[in-house]
Amino acid sequence: MRTTVGSDNITIDVHLTTQDPAIDRAEIRNGLLSSPRVLPTKYLYDDRGSELFEQICELPEYYQTRTEFQILVTCADKIIARSDADELVELGSGAATKTRVLLDAMDRAGQLNFYVPFDVSEGIVRRVSQELVEEYAALKVHGVVGDFLSHLEHIPDGGKRLVVFLGGTIGNLDDVAGAAFLSSVNKAMELGDHFLLSVQFVTEVNRLEAAYNDSKGVTAKFNKNMISVMQEMVRADFSPDAFDHVARFNHVESRIEIFLRSNKRQAVIFQDLDLVLSLENGEEIRTEISTKYDRKRAEQLLADANFELVEWYVDSDELLGLALAKKL
Ligand code: SAH
Ligand code: AVI
Repeated sequence: MRTTVGSDNITIDVHLTTQDPAIDRAEIRNGLLSSPRVLPTKYLYDDRGSELFEQICELPEYYQTRTEFQILVTCADKIIARSDADELVELGSGAATKTRVLLDAMDRAGQLNFYVPFDVSEGIVRRVSQELVEEYAALKVHGVVGDFLSHLEHIPDGGKRLVVFLGGTIGNLDDVAGAAFLSSVNKAMELGDHFLLSVQFVTEVNRLEAAYNDSKGVTAKFNKNMISVMQEMVRADFSPDAFDHVARFNHVESRIEIFLRSNKRQAVIFQDLDLVLSLENGEEIRTEISTKYDRKRAEQLLADANFELVEWYVDSDELLGLALAKKL
């Protein structure tokens, strides 16, 4: 479905509503019955979840956002010069706060034409599109509301592109999904386009665990928002009070894992899934992973997906890196 919104400079395509709800239900049901039990991470990001994620980005413990912002402030002009792009495509764009630094650099280079925010959260794609055409007079925005794991072919044709995947969101995909995702990003690009991949690096466990167990409890609210989404989406009789937020580092997998832990023995009815889930006290449902890489592992991911590394942009504490790559 395509809509032109309030201004000739904004087009929004919505691909989520075209998907059969039975596919989503089967994915949720299979996840809940698998071992470990999981729920699809993308459902954390409804309007409320996106709002909570914006609050996470402001937390003192969540060092990732300000670190990436600083790298971009220092390196955006170099990134734009190397990629020579006049179109910015952003996967998992969210509030596009850091994106402004790249758009400013494109503007300074006289190369700011198109911006494509691509996100599963419709409200935030619409909001960001409106904000950006107001902030950048000549900018055309073509928003895509879709799942970046299955709808990348809907990235609109455009100019010379820089495709960006910021925040370290690649870490929220497991190895198999991450590899498939990067290959499909590569396939959706033209020769000469560039890709900027953000990865969060391994650092001290205390720092990592604090980033996902903040003292204000915002990450706990973000995690528990999954319960509200399930209540609405598949008529689950989940109660947020019956679950605790748990986030811990898994050394073997080199990732933070986030769970909803049942704080009593309970049976949860999922009316639309034809499922009654029996949970023991202490039993966990994983809602998110967040892998922490080193450079070598990230370079291998890029090479496996047919990208050639051009340059790393990294903060002085090696907390986060932006790998600029080109399509081979
Ligand atoms: N890029 C922003 C936001 C990161 S949060 C930043 O760096 O701060 C992750 C973003 O990816 C959210 O906006 C979420 O809605 C989006 N997202 C998560 N899973 C998705 C999926 N499968 N398809 C499309 N977008 C997704
Ligand atoms: C979007 N993503 C990279 C965040 C992360 O750090 O894995 C999501 C997040 N979940 C809880 N806090 C932040």
